Amino acid sequence: MGTPNPPQRILVTGGAGYIGSHACLRLVETGHSVVGLDDFSRGHPGAFRAIAAAAEELPGSFTSVEASIGDRRGCAEILREHDIDLVMHFAALAYVGESVEQPLRYYDNNTGGAISLLEAMMDAGVERFVFSSTCATYGEPGADRIPIAEDCPQAPINPYGNSKFMVEQVLFDHAEACRLADKPFAFAALRYFNVAGSDPKTRIGEDHRPETHLIPICLEVAAGRRERLMIFGDDYDTEDGTCIRDYVHVCDLIDAHIAVMNQLAPGDTHTLNVGLGHGWSVHQVLEACRAVTGKAIPESISPRRAGDPPKLYANSSRIRDDFGWSPQFTELEATVATAWAWMQANPSGYAD
Ligand SMILES: NC(=O)c1ccc[n+]([C@@H]2O[C@H](COP(=O)([O-])OP(=O)(O)OC[C@H]3O[C@@H](n4cnc5c(N)ncnc54)[C@H](O)[C@@H]3O)[C@@H](O)[C@H]2O)c1
Repeated sequence: MGTPNPPQRILVTGGAGYIGSHACLRLVETGHSVVGLDDFSRGHPGAFRAIAAAAEELPGSFTSVEASIGDRRGCAEILREHDIDLVMHFAALAYVGESVEQPLRYYDNNTGGAISLLEAMMDAGVERFVFSSTCATYGEPGADRIPIAEDCPQAPINPYGNSKFMVEQVLFDHAEACRLADKPFAFAALRYFNVAGSDPKTRIGEDHRPETHLIPICLEVAAGRRERLMIFGDDYDTEDGTCIRDYVHVCDLIDAHIAVMNQLAPGDTHTLNVGLGHGWSVHQVLEACRAVTGKAIPESISPRRAGDPPKLYANSSRIRDDFGWSPQFTELEATVATAWAWMQANPSGYAD
C-alpha cells in the first residue's frame, strides 16, 4: 500500500490520560519517537510507566516529561530539545459539569493552554498540529442534522464545548495568518464522538476519576465498585426510549490520528468527525456489558438531564473518504470486551 511513512518525532500532550496514552503507545508501536507530556492534573504517572515498559519491545521510542501546556517557554524548550515534527494535542480538562461550575478554569486551561502551546510551537518552528476536538462543539443539533456532518453549525451549550470550539477558531485564524506570512502551518481538528475501549493487550486503559462515561460506569457496576447504573431518561424518541450515542474504539480513534498525520501537508486546515457513523442506545450498551461480563448490572431510571439530545452520531465519511480511515472495532461487544479485560487486570486502575 504506497510508500511507507517515515518515522516522526511527535509530542503527545495529555499523554498520561486515557486517549493520549493510547496515542503514545500506538505511535511507538508504529515506529515513531514519542515524547509524552502531562501535568498529571488528571493523568497517571502509571500510564507513562506502562508505556515506557512496553516501548522496550517496540520499534519506536518513548520519553515522558512532566510539564504544563500553559508553560510556553518550557514547552518550546521541549519541542526544540526533541526536534519535534508534529504535536498531537490531547491535554484538556473534560468534565462538562465541572466546566459549568468553573468556566474560567476551562477557558484558561483548554483555550489559553492551547494558545500557549501554539506560541511555543511558533517559537520552536514546529508547523503541524493535530487537535482533540469534540462533538460537544455541535451542541444540540436538530433531528434533521443527524448523522452530524462537519458542516453542521457549531453551537456548544457548555463551557467545555465552547473552550474547544474556541480553539478551532483560533486554529483557523492562526493558519490564515501563517498563510499570509508565507509560513507553513497545518492543522487537523478531529471531532471525537464517544471514545471507548482499551488497549487489547491491557497494557494501558481508561481510568478517569471520577468516571462519567457510560461503558466504564456499567463495568464498574459489574465489578462491584458501584451499586447500579443510573439511566437518565427512558422516554426519548428512540426505539427503546434511551439516548443513542456513537462509540468509537480508542485504538481506531488513534489510527485516525495517524492516518491524518501521515497526510497533513503545509497549509492544510482540516475538521474531521471521528465516529462509527451510527449509534447504540444506553440499553444496548448495558446489554452488551451484561453479555461480556456475565454480571447482572442493576439499573434504575432517573429523570432526563438537561442538554442530552436523544441521538448524536457522526457522519464520518470525510475521514473515511479523504484519509482512508476505517474502524476495526465495529461490534459493541468487542469494544466492551477490551475495556473489561483492562479493568479485570487492573481492578483499582493505575496504582498512583
Ligand atoms: N473521552 C472522550 O470520550 C472524549 C470525547 C471527545 C473529546 N475528548 C477529548 O480528548 C482529549 C483526551 O480526553 P481523555 O478522555 O483522554 O481525558 P483525560 O482526562 O484522561 O486526559 C487528559 C490529560 O490531559 C492532562 N492535562 C490537562 N491539562 C493539562 C495541562 N495544562 N498541561 C498538561 N497536561 C494537561 C491531564 O492530566 C490528562 O492526563 C481531551 O482533550 C478531551 O476533551 C475526549
